[in-house]
Amino acid sequence: MSSLIKLENVTKKYRLGENELLVLKDIHFQLDAGEMTAIVGMSGSGKSTLMNIMGFLDRCTEGRYFFAGDDVSSLPEHTLASIRNQKIGFVFQSFFLLPRSTALQNVMLPLFYRGTPHIEAEEAARQMLAKVGVAHLAHHKPHQLSGGQQQRVAIARALVGHPDVILADEPTGALDSQTGHEVMELFAELNRKEGRTIVIITHDKEISRRCQRVVAIKDGSIVE
Ligand SMILES: Nc1ncnc2c1ncn2[C@@H]1O[C@H](COP(=O)(O)OP(=O)(O)OP(=O)(O)O)[C@@H](O)[C@H]1O
Ligand SMILES: [Mg+2]
Repeated sequence: MSSLIKLENVTKKYRLGENELLVLKDIHFQLDAGEMTAIVGMSGSGKSTLMNIMGFLDRCTEGRYFFAGDDVSSLPEHTLASIRNQKIGFVFQSFFLLPRSTALQNVMLPLFYRGTPHIEAEEAARQMLAKVGVAHLAHHKPHQLSGGQQQRVAIARALVGHPDVILADEPTGALDSQTGHEVMELFAELNRKEGRTIVIITHDKEISRRCQRVVAIKDGSIVE
């Protein structure tokens, strides 16, 4: 059985005028299905860059990326977008909910992009809101929700399409510690009970301690 995610000799460079900035250096990384992994490291060390590459939001400059055994390094953009929609669920620090849409509509969005029939999408979205404990807030808009409630809606949106992996970039960064703790409980439960594969970028030692595996990045290299 091959890894769900496998990065081989991955390098990322940004060109800034005359200069080249080497942000990821020869990264080797494997992630198995069912793992809950934390990525830690100082600000600017390359964590988000690595996650964006894993989530097909960005491409590596050199190296190869295998997703579920397939080399996806050189697939065209529209194919990557489709894999992203089907296989990856994202959660961000700043939630990124559509402000004028209700919680329910926000959660339905990934299914809408897939062309799922409306009734089916609505039912799936309602179930997912219930799973993350905010079924009663389905018709609220983001500004009518607390930070923790917004993040639960964002997690429901990440989960609704049954992605192979959830990538969360500082998901508790905008939350107070108690609410952050509750959101982490939810991730841990999704991993434990449903075997969801989850990658969480965090600065919070409390949070990384709860993950089975901790990957540390320093200056663009994995150090442990
Ligand atoms: N689009 C870009 N163009 C040029 N440089 C970039 C770009 N995106 C990121 N960088 C640089 O790459 C380095 C790594 O950035 P990245 O966002 O991956 O760090 P991070 O570990 O997620 O930091 P933080 O903890 O602050 O979120 C930084 O030096 C950043 O300035
Ligand atoms: Mg970052």
